[in-house]
Amino acid sequence: MRSLEASQYLIRAIDAFDRDLVIITPDFRIVAANRHAAEKWEHRLIGQICHQAIYDRDAPCDDCPAVEALRTGRPVMYSLTVNLVSGIRKGSCFPILSGSGDRIDALAMVDYDISRLTSLEQRLRRTNMFLRNILRSAVDGIIAADMSGKIIIFNEAAAEVTGYSVAEALDALYIWQIYPGEGKAAARRVMRDLRGDDYGGSGKLNRYHVDIRGKNGQRIPISLYAALIYEEGHEVASIGFFHDLRDRLRMKTELERAQVQLMQAEKMASLGKLAAGVAHQLNNPLGSITLFARLMLEEHDLPEAARDDLERILSDAERCRDTVKELLEFARQTRQQIQPQDINQALERTLFLLQNQTLFHNIRIVKVFAPDLPPVRADIQQLNHLFMNLILNAAQAMQGSGQLTIRTLFEVEAKTAVIEVGDTGPGIPPEVLPHIFEPFFTTKEEGQGTGLGLSMVYSIVENHGGRTEVDSSPESGTTFRVRLPVGGPPSKGEDSDEPSLVSCAGG
Ligand SMILES: Nc1ncnc2c1ncn2[C@@H]1O[C@H](COP(=O)(O)OP(=O)(O)O)[C@@H](O)[C@H]1O
Ligand SMILES: [Mg+2]
Repeated sequence: MRSLEASQYLIRAIDAFDRDLVIITPDFRIVAANRHAAEKWEHRLIGQICHQAIYDRDAPCDDCPAVEALRTGRPVMYSLTVNLVSGIRKGSCFPILSGSGDRIDALAMVDYDISRLTSLEQRLRRTNMFLRNILRSAVDGIIAADMSGKIIIFNEAAAEVTGYSVAEALDALYIWQIYPGEGKAAARRVMRDLRGDDYGGSGKLNRYHVDIRGKNGQRIPISLYAALIYEEGHEVASIGFFHDLRDRLRMKTELERAQVQLMQAEKMASLGKLAAGVAHQLNNPLGSITLFARLMLEEHDLPEAARDDLERILSDAERCRDTVKELLEFARQTRQQIQPQDINQALERTLFLLQNQTLFHNIRIVKVFAPDLPPVRADIQQLNHLFMNLILNAAQAMQGSGQLTIRTLFEVEAKTAVIEVGDTGPGIPPEVLPHIFEPFFTTKEEGQGTGLGLSMVYSIVENHGGRTEVDSSPESGTTFRVRLPVGGPPSKGEDSDEPSLVSCAGG
């Protein structure tokens, strides 16, 4: 038997208990309630029938736990929807057996404090929602996998990069399936580096570059931040934050290409200055040589041998003078006359001049001229020079036999006229290609080429705000493509006479 003191303490404990405790007889009469319940129901409960007093019903509730406990003689957990305000009431009901244990004397109903539980639940739900929103709105792809490789977190950004939907990734995707090839080896390598010290400390990867595989097999370079997740000292999962590097790599190659172009432009500019300087330095002494050679030739008593020598001097000096003239043109020390020009007509004229030369006798000339090509603002002399050089080079490359294709196009949106000069020659070897626009660069035998043609082409096109491109291969020959803005050079006005050192005028 329990002492009186112990019994009193038990009663006080039950009263201190901060949940509802109500005791009913097997005929649902409320016989006792702890203080928590009594205060809540304002002491109206004792002696009342439970379903009448609390639920205002004539019969026990349909899902009454007491009915169930009376039937089975065992404790029953219950969850009752009371009303919209109180919400769900959860608790347990357990039978209080008679001394002999073969009869149920009463039933104890203990209510959980639902309001507190509900607020906890709500807080948990809110936190979860918040985390899910963070995952969803993250710019980085986020993927986590458990130790079996099964994917347990996969956010929208990861879906966008890889092409898998969030649902299919969470359903059936394993982490190694997003690595290229067989995948497992690559995944193991990443895990090894993750555990190692070399990439941001043990258990971490920092800005780790690796390729992953998208849903339809494409390789995607990514930058990865990853970490191992531990629970009580054991690895339980790994999580990775990553972004797609494709755009960045594309930008990098574009930037590198732009840099190469810039360097080329700068090189041409300084070569232009150099050429102009050299040309001026040579001009005066060449003039003297020519003048004095002519004067000496006029002497009557000159021996025949000396006369031959002088004539040689004179012709060589003239050749030098021609080169100097071309150099000056390359450095454009002449006026530029910008006027609307019919490109197709200019090409026709150049072809007309050239096609009667022996070099062109066995060359088939194909012309595909755009009928809608608008006039292009340009210097006609320079245009002629430009076309002449491209067409001559093509004919020379084909050594007089093959097909020369001259095509014009109009790019409406870019407002650009495109002129293509293509040949069926041997193409330009890759090691030669970077040098073709340099002045004096030639692969032709002495007397055949000066190496100034393409450098002039380059500066004429630049001077008109355009661009020169070249496609070349041993199989299909070479095509030079010149793009000229229809509006002409960007900043200079019509009949501009401002000399530019980089550009040149045609002759
Ligand atoms: N259509 C072409 N096919 C093959 N190579 C070419 C072609 N056009 C130019 N080249 C190459 O570019 C070099 C430079 O051309 P260019 O500046 O016109 O000088 P040149 O014609 O006097 O040699 C040529 O020597 C040749 O090697
Ligand atoms: Mg040439």
